[in-house]
Amino acid sequence: MNDPTTIRRLYGRRQGHKLRAGQAALVEELLPEVAVPETGPIDAQTLFGSDRPLDFEIGFGAGEHLAAQAAAHPERGLIGCEPFLNGVVGALGHIRDCGLTNVRLHMGDALTVLERLPDASLERLYLLHPDPWPKARHAKRRMVNPGPLDRIAAKLKPGGEFRLGTDDPTYCRWAMMVMNRRRDFKWLARAPADFLTRPADWPETRYERKARRQGHEVWYFRYRRL
Ligand SMILES: C[S@@+](CC[C@H](N)C(=O)[O-])C[C@H]1O[C@@H](n2cnc3c(N)ncnc32)[C@H](O)[C@@H]1O
Repeated sequence: MNDPTTIRRLYGRRQGHKLRAGQAALVEELLPEVAVPETGPIDAQTLFGSDRPLDFEIGFGAGEHLAAQAAAHPERGLIGCEPFLNGVVGALGHIRDCGLTNVRLHMGDALTVLERLPDASLERLYLLHPDPWPKARHAKRRMVNPGPLDRIAAKLKPGGEFRLGTDDPTYCRWAMMVMNRRRDFKWLARAPADFLTRPADWPETRYERKARRQGHEVWYFRYRRL
């Protein structure tokens, strides 16, 4: 299947409105300090200078969830990937304003960074409101597909957690179908409330807020890597 691991193409916007001077300065000055190195293997030591639990967010949008998790868990290292420049600027603003030292960013495709990590090295992986690609002929572009999931499974530690949030009914059904076929993940929901209510340690994202404002339902999936 031509899913995101094989097509190696990024769809969607790379830049929105023009950056203001302060935002451009963040990109020029702070981004190089917190950027994931461009090439080579990476681990907690190379990224943070010490061994520590690692978490990873695919498509962090404006970075509010990434920053909130980093602030809540200063002992962990957070790696966030997002190709959208204005989103990266948002995350840089949070890093500066909250004085976060445990976040590393990559402006680009998450999968190319994920594959440079050692296997079984992540405690958690977050995929929150991935681009839905609602048309059936675009289903192969969805991040929840066997190729990306194989990679996510390989990089999570046994016992690690994969969190997926969506407000898109098509994506919700698709994800449940794809995840249900996997023998390497266990869905942690015991009752509907477990996936209909946002867990307390799951900070709200911008897309989620927007979805709620528009009256959409939001679903919260937590899977344990077996
Ligand atoms: C609908 S937005 C959700 C953003 C954020 N997670 C939130 O909930 O507010 C999906 C995001 O995934 C990003 N994205 C798409 N493909 C990606 C990839 N291959 N690697 C990293 N991010 C990606 C997009 O740029 C976009 O910002």
